[in-house]
Amino acid sequence: MKFFIDTANLAQIREAQELGILDGVTTNPSLMAKEGIKGEENILKHYKDICEIVDGHVSAEVISTEFNGMISEGEKLAALHPQIVVKIPATKDGIKAIKYFSDNGINTNCTLVFSVGQALLAAKAGATYVSPFVGRLDDISNDGVELIEQIVYLYKTYNFETQVLAASIRHTMHIIQCAEVGADVATCPLNAILGLLKHPLTDSGLQKFLDDYKKVNG
Ligand code: G3P
Repeated sequence: MKFFIDTANLAQIREAQELGILDGVTTNPSLMAKEGIKGEENILKHYKDICEIVDGHVSAEVISTEFNGMISEGEKLAALHPQIVVKIPATKDGIKAIKYFSDNGINTNCTLVFSVGQALLAAKAGATYVSPFVGRLDDISNDGVELIEQIVYLYKTYNFETQVLAASIRHTMHIIQCAEVGADVATCPLNAILGLLKHPLTDSGLQKFLDDYKKVNG
């Protein structure tokens, strides 16, 4: 499973990159706003800055909600850097735009996906990635991980190339659960990634090794 980090925060992206396990980055308008990035020039520069930190795909989301605006925005984003993936919502105009970009060799990430139906059309349109929002489904007592499992099964059944990118990951167990059901990618907050390393027996075992060493070697 590929690990993406879900943030526009450059320090967190650098920390994840330095771990040596990072395969890409996803952003969205809320994550960009959280970093105070405003104005088209600054937004475009920020995406390029992210591409300079990581080697993998970087999702940059369009703001337009209608086809023509999505196309002009998406082409501008894609021209920024070869690593840019154009993020587009799972709407009628979004699917049409994904098909256009797929036919023109531009990578896309179909976002705000909450159903198998949306994921099916994203794959039919040729999306590079589909982003089912696990956490937001869990937030309303739906089973987000079950949706991931259903989409993975559907895509395997019809041999779709679209990658299942589990998004809206809230915690470490979401990462493990999405890996268990075969997600191609999980895009995670940094803490959720670091949480994978936490185990008290590792900490206590390491401390005992050090203590025993010091008893003999001072
Ligand atoms: O990439 C989509 C993701 O950022 C949404 O996460 O926590 O806002 O549901 P969240």
